[in-house]
Amino acid sequence: MWGASTSSHQIEGNNKNDWTLWEDAGHVVGNQRSGIAADSWNLYKQDHQVAKDLKLNTYKFSIEWSRVEPQEGSFDKKALDRYIDMVKSVKSLGIEPIVGLHHFTNPQWLADWSHEGNAEKYARYVDYVVEHLAEHVNFWFTINEPVNQVILGYELNIWPPGNKNKPRGTKAFTNFSTAHKLAYKRVHKIYETKKLARPNVGIQLALNNFVPSNRWNILDQLVNYVVRRLKNHKFIKTLDHQYDILGVNHYFTFRTKWYSPGSYSDIRYPIPGVVKSDMGWNVQPEGLYNTLIEMSKYGVPIMVAESGIADSKDDKREWFIRESLKSVARALQAGVNVIGYSYWSLIDNFEWADGYEPKFGLASVDPKTKKRVIRKSARFYSKVASSNSLEVD
Ligand code: BGC
Repeated sequence: MWGASTSSHQIEGNNKNDWTLWEDAGHVVGNQRSGIAADSWNLYKQDHQVAKDLKLNTYKFSIEWSRVEPQEGSFDKKALDRYIDMVKSVKSLGIEPIVGLHHFTNPQWLADWSHEGNAEKYARYVDYVVEHLAEHVNFWFTINEPVNQVILGYELNIWPPGNKNKPRGTKAFTNFSTAHKLAYKRVHKIYETKKLARPNVGIQLALNNFVPSNRWNILDQLVNYVVRRLKNHKFIKTLDHQYDILGVNHYFTFRTKWYSPGSYSDIRYPIPGVVKSDMGWNVQPEGLYNTLIEMSKYGVPIMVAESGIADSKDDKREWFIRESLKSVARALQAGVNVIGYSYWSLIDNFEWADGYEPKFGLASVDPKTKKRVIRKSARFYSKVASSNSLEVD
């Protein structure tokens, strides 16, 4: 499966959710707001056409909870109808829709994920959406990167709810896990009741590569072991094997060092010879291989649900995609069951606290006209996707 990913808030425009409040409060660089974004709420068919032109056979996008349930307990069927139309439009082009149910944003009435009862509220929304979309969708992702939501929103304080409070973060962590498990059960139940073929229900996790700064240093190795357990395995272990596929979002290779604040977790930590993205991130696509090997132990098919680079000049993206796919090829050769690769992102979009400067898209979006223009590197990806093969030099 060859595809590209997006998320609702990053492309739709004119949302009203906890992130828009956060933007209004001036937390995005340069006081930017997501605003009209790529206007995909209206122009989604143009996005689907980009995927079609690139000969992709999957498109991963997400549903905006705040549109579907603008007030607690009251659902907006018209908004849902639009998502139904999106799914149909994708399918009409021969592309498999992969649908995310939660990608960082929340309705404003939800308060935050540390609150009691929010997992059940999320499950009620999932019920409503899946009840209407079941017959059209085979792939669902329940939640995107719950651990990052906890770290950024409750520890680093740079995302909503901006609540530097570890115990509440822990509560949110548990609620996300409960929410996923509830959703997993409900989705399967709906398909069973409707006598539909069993769908693939998974979760997207930020899963990265961790290497000891000095591999001969036993303390660096120890830190590596602990950090890796915490970041890559702690959450998934709470899910009691309730996932049919695993969505791997991969962006980083972290260097772990014994007591050196700033090395581990600093994605901009200078490493000689390592390519930097426009965001200053170290880009090491070869790390995807280790991550895929590491996650294969969970025994379910793996989809690389996000892998991407911010590269406005488009002079590194082709290299990045080639090297990432080489990692996937090596993992396949090693026996890892990788069923798909979905580049982040199909089109340029709102990059959260970093605003609109980072350009991840296979296609650019003109800020004024909203015209989508396919980038050169995307043509390379398209060749790989359409031939289902990768030529390596
Ligand atoms: C998120 C995307 C984001 C991307 C690039 C991922 O972790 O799921 O929403 O745009 O990273 O930062």
